[in-house]
Amino acid sequence: MEEKMNVSYYMEALKNMNAGKGYSACVVTYGCQQNEADSERVAGMLHQSGYDIVKEPALADVIIVNTCAVREHAEERALSITGGYKHLKAARPHLKIGVCGCMVSKDDMSEKIKKSYPYIDFVFGTEKLSHLPEILYRSYEKKKRIFVPNDGELAIPEGLPVVRESDFRAWVSIMYGCNNFCTYCIVPYVRGRERSRRPEMILAEVRELVASGVKEITLLGQNVNSYGKEFGGECNFATLLSRICEIEGDFTVRFMTSHPKDASRELIDVMAANPKIARHFHLPVQSGSDRMLKAMNRHYDREQYLALVDYMREKMPDIAITTDIIVGFPSETEEDFADTLELMKRVKYDMIFSFIYSPRTGTPAAKMEQLPESVKTERMNRLLALQNELLAEKNEAYVGKTLRVLVEGTSKTNEKKMSARTEGNRIVLLDGDESLTGKFVNVKITKSSPFALLGEMED
Ligand code: 5AD
Ligand code: SF4
Repeated sequence: MEEKMNVSYYMEALKNMNAGKGYSACVVTYGCQQNEADSERVAGMLHQSGYDIVKEPALADVIIVNTCAVREHAEERALSITGGYKHLKAARPHLKIGVCGCMVSKDDMSEKIKKSYPYIDFVFGTEKLSHLPEILYRSYEKKKRIFVPNDGELAIPEGLPVVRESDFRAWVSIMYGCNNFCTYCIVPYVRGRERSRRPEMILAEVRELVASGVKEITLLGQNVNSYGKEFGGECNFATLLSRICEIEGDFTVRFMTSHPKDASRELIDVMAANPKIARHFHLPVQSGSDRMLKAMNRHYDREQYLALVDYMREKMPDIAITTDIIVGFPSETEEDFADTLELMKRVKYDMIFSFIYSPRTGTPAAKMEQLPESVKTERMNRLLALQNELLAEKNEAYVGKTLRVLVEGTSKTNEKKMSARTEGNRIVLLDGDESLTGKFVNVKITKSSPFALLGEMED
């Protein structure tokens, strides 16, 4: 409560301080959906503090870069983009540049920014999102650089304002943090321990979104299957989903991410019984080799994973299954990698997000002996080639079928077409105009490629 008052107090103070100046703010986001959801709250707080939200950093008086730390490449990109904003300060000395998110929630990076990036005015960790109005206010007032690292603050700030990117699709965070400590992953170190939002808060937010016309809601958490553990059996993820499905209205609900060790039969049964839940399951396998799964600290084996996939398909034959795979984890042999390819052939995923292993300082796997880059890239190329082959086959099987899709807007790859997504999160291109955006329509699939489906609208 006190927290919320503080946020409101500083948003009001900023509004008064900058009254009449016509200031704008821009939020630049890297990384996962959780970051996108956080950025919508950052934009919400800035909007309520009197800033117009703009998409172009060059037009902004405050730029916030929300960063990702999952792989080295994402970190490098975020740092180099802030370098690009440095010169904007020459034209607008009052410009404030702030950096938040996972990358700056690691001690070493905060120190690096302090020393090597003097044009960055303030930095705040993932647990400190709601402190932004105060930090920004103090930054104007004191003209000093401000560094607010994570310190184990676990309170979930409720009721923060939000500026959403889309009118018909929304993220709803149901929990924060992760307790799993997969050996390659930095997330538990930068997003802290697992904590769940109260179900009443989530249900109220979903109800409000549906009432405002939102058609697709994605529930977010690093491991949604362990939602509600701290509520002692009062409400687990399956219960939460069923309660969401009881909300009246024409909408679809999705969720991510699920850890295979916690994805329950109960959850699959709830999905099968509720047509409002999208027929899509993102179930990151990471590797098809039991030896690698052990080294990754995943707590399931190939057989258990496949049993889960079989159960899902038994209950929902049309379900789309997608996954994450890491290629080139330390000590991965040709045989281990062959197990992964084998598993891909067995599951026939609808989509694979594949990543070359990137050592993250502070995680156990970063201390293990690393594979040469050339081995990692060569394996990645083989994995991609196989996936394209499997996807071409899979997409071909859709031709002639009618699917319900949500239209997203004009296609970015073909401006003459509208782009839509199936429940399984597949892209379908169709003829039509902007008036279809945000609507569910039925589409008959007429053509396929490994990357998209082409279809015609049905009445
Ligand atoms: N290197 C490569 N990929 C990683 N992921 C997480 N950490 C790393 C890392 N150090 C991948 C996992 C996870 C996805 C979000 O990112 O596959 O599921
Ligand atoms: Fe990272 Fe594993 Fe937690 Fe996912 S479950 S965020 S991969 S530690």
